[in-house]
Amino acid sequence: MAFIHVNIRCLYTLLICTAFGSTLSSNAEIKVNPPQDFEIVDPGYLGYLYLQWQPPLSLDNFKECTVEYELKYRNIDSESWKTIITKNLHYKDGFDLNKGVEAKIHTLLPGQCTNGSEVQSSWSETTYWTLPQGNLETKIQDMDCVYYNWQYLLCSWKPGMGVHFDTNYNLFYWYEGLDHALQCADYIKTNGKNTGCRFPYLESSDYKDFYICVNGSSESQSIRPSYFIFQLQNIVKPLPPDYLSLTVKNSEEVNLKWSIPRGPIPSQCFIYEIEFTEDDTTWVTTTDENEIYITRTSNESHRLCFSVRSKMNIYCSDDGIWSEWSDEQCWKGDIWKETLVFFLIPFAFVSLLVLLITCLLLYKQKNLLKMIFHTKKEAFSHQDTLC
Ligand SMILES: *[C@@H]1O[C@H](CO)[C@@H](O)[C@H](O)[C@H]1NC(C)=O
Ligand SMILES: *[C@@H]1O[C@H](CO)[C@@H](O)[C@H](O)[C@H]1NC(C)=O
Ligand SMILES: *[C@@H]1O[C@H](CO)[C@@H](O)[C@H](O)[C@H]1NC(C)=O
Repeated sequence: MAFIHVNIRCLYTLLICTAFGSTLSSNAEIKVNPPQDFEIVDPGYLGYLYLQWQPPLSLDNFKECTVEYELKYRNIDSESWKTIITKNLHYKDGFDLNKGVEAKIHTLLPGQCTNGSEVQSSWSETTYWTLPQGNLETKIQDMDCVYYNWQYLLCSWKPGMGVHFDTNYNLFYWYEGLDHALQCADYIKTNGKNTGCRFPYLESSDYKDFYICVNGSSESQSIRPSYFIFQLQNIVKPLPPDYLSLTVKNSEEVNLKWSIPRGPIPSQCFIYEIEFTEDDTTWVTTTDENEIYITRTSNESHRLCFSVRSKMNIYCSDDGIWSEWSDEQCWKGDIWKETLVFFLIPFAFVSLLVLLITCLLLYKQKNLLKMIFHTKKEAFSHQDTLC
């Protein structure tokens, strides 16, 4: 059957060839094969995959042509395909390995090669899955990673729901620049089980995809690994600003100032949120500067207070985590007079009293000592005479 089939196809091609003279002279006949050996290779980088292929068969007719490839790929069940046009025979990108990956590629012959419009081959398709092991319940839960002050990365998690007591988890990570995936060297432990990781200093790791896999082992069941991808600058939690100052310029204008948080974060990367309290009313505002001028709503207000927290701004990251609030800084109108009356004066009085009593005691003690000394001396001289 196959033999006859092939023969018929040959005959058909021959017919067309004779009808139109040459295959190249007419666009309708120009065909190109899809790339060969299209595959997805996992180099063990926890989500960073290589898509690679070989040139199509019978390209000889297009020797002077630069053949291009249109590559489309996505995580299975994601909405849209990513499309790449390249002359290379490979492409690399990051994927979420919790899901499968699908990709397709075809050859493109540009118009100048075909004396007409662009010619495309059929698609060559492939997929990639990590071997599914363990059921979903064995995955870790509530993974939480924070890059403290753009210096210390810390991740924590909870064990899976339905896991046996002997289950323990391990964390591996990789980013571009590391030769291979590394295991966490400093685990945070709860009841002897790994529930978090303190990362070491991560050299040139910003603005790159950071890949993490937390897998596990147990004697009695297999454990489903979890994969995570993020960029470190997007999970930074800065320190709160310190050294706040509040100056009342005139009866109306107030100047709030604070120091830029210490550490490696550039000053132009911060956004600040200020919580300002005037007597009983509180409002919140944000600024990129480390100072702000505001107008009091009433020049009669007694108590002005503010505190600040910081976060990475949109010029330096896509996202971030707010720092803790700083200590509150207050200005208390004419309250210093009251402070003087109610606090300083009693304090001075009490201090004086304490001093007086101490002196008195010391004086009395001195007398007492003198007396004892005297009696002893007498006793001694008495003994002397005895001997
Ligand atoms: C390109 O097309 C023109 C006419 O459209 C024809 O004269 C010419 O021979 C063609 N060249 C090739 C290389 O097919
Ligand atoms: C966990 O993942 C690492 C890195 O991919 C791998 O070397 C290791 O064998 C895995 N462990 C288990 C128990 O699957
Ligand atoms: C407070 O403001 C009122 C008007 O809003 C003004 O008449 C008054 O002089 C101000 N008092 C002080 C102490 O500046």
